[in-house]
Amino acid sequence: MHDPVEFRSQHLARFHADPAIFVAPGRVNLIGEHTDYAEGFVMPVAIDFATLAGISPRSDGKVVVYSENYQQERTFDAATLPAKASNHWSDYPLGVAAILAGEGHKIPAFSLSLWGDVPLGSGLSSSASVEVVTALAILSLIGASYPGPVLARLCQRAENEFVGANCGIMDQFISANGEADHALLLDCRDLSYKLAPIPADVALIIANTMVKHSVAGGDYPTRRRESEAACAVIAKHRPGVPFLRDATLEDLEKWGNEMEPKSLLRARHVISENLRTVAACDALMKGDMAELGRLMAEAHWSYSKDFEGSCAEADTMVELAQDLPGLIGARLTGGGFGGCTINLVEQRHAKAFAEELGRRYATATGIVPQIHICHASGGARKLA
Ligand code: GLA
Repeated sequence: MHDPVEFRSQHLARFHADPAIFVAPGRVNLIGEHTDYAEGFVMPVAIDFATLAGISPRSDGKVVVYSENYQQERTFDAATLPAKASNHWSDYPLGVAAILAGEGHKIPAFSLSLWGDVPLGSGLSSSASVEVVTALAILSLIGASYPGPVLARLCQRAENEFVGANCGIMDQFISANGEADHALLLDCRDLSYKLAPIPADVALIIANTMVKHSVAGGDYPTRRRESEAACAVIAKHRPGVPFLRDATLEDLEKWGNEMEPKSLLRARHVISENLRTVAACDALMKGDMAELGRLMAEAHWSYSKDFEGSCAEADTMVELAQDLPGLIGARLTGGGFGGCTINLVEQRHAKAFAEELGRRYATATGIVPQIHICHASGGARKLA
């Protein structure tokens, strides 16, 4: 992570005001893919890639946002902030401001600097970390606060309603509510959650295929529509099934023939993934790593074959990990169609595993991957 002391002095030099500093993490999802918007279960972990925000008040009525990553500054009038996205990095902080304004907060004039090391477009939730850190920063300036789950919902709305990406709640939730050394099993229906400790001898190895993914791109909303179409067929017979969370594999046996073939497959992934995710949390709580690894493998191939949410490179990354010493489980993580795999690996093998996986992937694909040994970190907070 960027040194917060240096980050603070850069803000001071640029804006001539001492900022309050906040941090919000990216995430990796251990299991539970495309289940959040079906009101199902997910089990993500906050990671030590994060976004920092520095905020200080201004007296000229302006909102000035600066991204150190893009080396770009944008200025707006606090009284007339944009109400629409402009396909620019500033959509994320402005979207948060718009949602907070809609909640009745008067947005004051401020300078905001942002810097992050969550790899962009890699399925590690860089955008959620920007939203959550911006929300904390603006709220602190206006002397307001929300419980973590509510904060997550507001940030999800910024992404849905302002940025225009139809994501679920997982990424914003874990960025706002993650706990160091724990995975979080979230029930996306009522936002209740359970923390599951990650044993100290288990390493989280994130392997970036370097194939870019985007939730705003066409595939994510298409898959979402296809799975929701299957749910609509079930709901004709069983009106108590508003979301796939409420559906069963038996429902698919009974009424699958009324569905588009692709919809049936998408639904089979989502329904079985919910069962796997709850079982995976039980396995982690019991320390049954073999079962957890088995569920992760099953989840990957369900995501790849039934949901068609993977890509050749991610399948290769998962396959190449299989016979490496220390592997517990590997699968593609996040929105799909590229991005990263998550590998749970016995700590004592972590370094050799990361090196060998990188070598094998480069040889197999001709692409040099980025492999990171990560830690389960805490959720968004103010830095002292
Ligand atoms: C993206 C979305 C999440 C979730 C995942 C898939 O990360 O932002 O809400 O739907 O994809 O599990």
